[in-house]
Amino acid sequence: MRRREISPPSSLALEASHISVTYPGGIRAVRDVSISIAQGEVLALIGESGSGKTSLARALASLVPYSGQVSLMGNPVSSLNRLERSRRLQLVFQNPYTYLNPAKTVGQILEEPLIIHARGKRPGPAMTEEMLTALDLDPAYRTRSIRELSGGERQRVAIGCALMLNPSVILADEALSALDVLVQARILALLRSHTCLFISHDISAAAYFSHRIAVMYRGEIVEEGPTERVYTSPRHPYTQRLLRKL
Ligand SMILES: Nc1ncnc2c1ncn2[C@@H]1O[C@H](COP(=O)(O)OP(=O)(O)OP(=O)(O)O)[C@@H](O)[C@H]1O
Ligand SMILES: [Mg+2]
Repeated sequence: MRRREISPPSSLALEASHISVTYPGGIRAVRDVSISIAQGEVLALIGESGSGKTSLARALASLVPYSGQVSLMGNPVSSLNRLERSRRLQLVFQNPYTYLNPAKTVGQILEEPLIIHARGKRPGPAMTEEMLTALDLDPAYRTRSIRELSGGERQRVAIGCALMLNPSVILADEALSALDVLVQARILALLRSHTCLFISHDISAAAYFSHRIAVMYRGEIVEEGPTERVYTSPRHPYTQRLLRKL
């Protein structure tokens, strides 16, 4: 007898329903958006400047007040404390200057999340050096201070920092913009082995490596589907316009 295929609820790494974000002054940046990301899936979120992509990511990470429900691996985020949440979900922003402490070494930055989550147990250098290599950085960078790094190198350290804990979901908000094309390709390959919401202006990069694409316009998801389908035969006029611009 054929077994029925029932996927367990936890096969969704992230499930968000009816998310709305309204900023003071009444700006409705996100309007009743529902998205889900399966384990191992890369969902690209594209849309023009001001369409609400970052606001949605901030809501998913509980960084702004929002209405609606967010679950990570089947657990409502409201049932998770901050530490549990950060183990499951990591956000990488575009500008690492604002949140990487310049006084610290690369090793300290990369090892910090592990130390916090392992309650003070210090990870060995091997793990850090392995991550640096994966990021296409010299393992010797471990002892260099953040302020000695270029913008693109800092960006890669920020991505590494998010990956160190092997979170269930990574939200990458324009996280590759500071990188040149070759390094971008390398980091895309690295991100592709994780579950990821990949926010980008760059439709080509999004199409190149995502499994699905969601298109955001004025706070709403106007189109969503398998990358190949959205890219080759977009249904919504706004998506058609975005693709014509290429
Ligand atoms: N802290 C805030 N307070 C008030 N309004 C905000 C705030 N942050 C964003 N907005 C507004 O919300 C809307 C969506 O902004 P958001 O940053 O989410 O867009 P985005 O799609 O990420 O744009 P970009 O591609 O330029 O990063 C915009 O109209 C913006 O002006
Ligand atoms: Mg943004």
